[in-house]
Amino acid sequence: MTRSLTIRRPDDWHLHLRDGAMLRAVLPETTRHFARAIVMPNLVPPVVTAADAVRYRDRILAALPDGAAFTPLMTLYLTEDTDPDDVATAHASGLVTAVKLYPAGATTNSASGVRDFDRVRPVLERMAEIGLPLCVHGEVTDDDIDIFDREAVFIDRVLDPLRRATPGLRVVMEHITTRQGADYARSAPDLGATITTHHLVINRNHILAGGIKPHYYCLPVAKREEHRLALRAAATSGDPTYFLGTDSAPHTDPAKLQPCGCAGCFTAPNTLSILAEVFEQEDALDRLEGFTSLHGPAFYGLPPNEGTLTLTRGEPVTYPDRIETGDGPVTVFDPQMPLHWSVT
Ligand code: NCD
Ligand code: ZN
Repeated sequence: MTRSLTIRRPDDWHLHLRDGAMLRAVLPETTRHFARAIVMPNLVPPVVTAADAVRYRDRILAALPDGAAFTPLMTLYLTEDTDPDDVATAHASGLVTAVKLYPAGATTNSASGVRDFDRVRPVLERMAEIGLPLCVHGEVTDDDIDIFDREAVFIDRVLDPLRRATPGLRVVMEHITTRQGADYARSAPDLGATITTHHLVINRNHILAGGIKPHYYCLPVAKREEHRLALRAAATSGDPTYFLGTDSAPHTDPAKLQPCGCAGCFTAPNTLSILAEVFEQEDALDRLEGFTSLHGPAFYGLPPNEGTLTLTRGEPVTYPDRIETGDGPVTVFDPQMPLHWSVT
């Protein structure tokens, strides 16, 4: 049995770092293990312009723990008023690694997102020209579409037409949660897909059976077991289409535990232990490095990290139930299984 595994230092291709006291508390949980992360722009107000991204990057750099070697890869929040020139300049200067598309109203802080896709066409065309990837939150928001069907419907109604209308646009399907998402992602070389840690572990029963579990509620919401199994097959397949984006999304316990609680699972502290367990269960430990450290850089045209990280198998490791932040406690995702792999 494998007892220790050394991999290139991983990256997180979808992460929420927030701002202020929350940023200061959650950032070390990521920088401890990850060298880079695609930082989501859904602050209030969102990170829309290059100038916003410079300021946010500076706040992240200022919050880094002493000695941390970590590069935040910044994103811009696409709105119907986004200026193609501002995006192109931000890309050319190396400031911005991707642009993020939220359909308006799809998730936490997405009110400024896109309603009319024709209005963002000039930006998308410019991005295709300059090779700047679009990260997509792939859910329709129509009231008449069942929340468990929103990803599959988005692919047919929005994503496929959008890609046909914008040849050459590189798209990351973020936090896929369905077999349809996994299948569509592998259908073209200009598509990639991130998969979260928690969607490899939970299905919708974890949220709803035996009492409601707000800490398992995130968006896109976890689906049926058959979809979780499809995601596990995709993540552990070795196919470079798929790479890790934890979507670690901290909210304080008071914000989660209320009649209308926030969406998001906080997985930054224990993500690598959980992933090693999942890949071991799937007899695919030799493919963990591809998923966490190689496929993402390849999609984004970046070199893999130089450093390494070693996971060691032993007695089950434990993580704190929650971390304290200046804004209040944040509960750490509970995978409901012993974790035998620790980062050493
Ligand atoms: C994210 C958040 O809290 O910002 N929540 C979540 O459930 N994943 C938003 C998002 O990525 O959808
Ligand atoms: Zn997210």
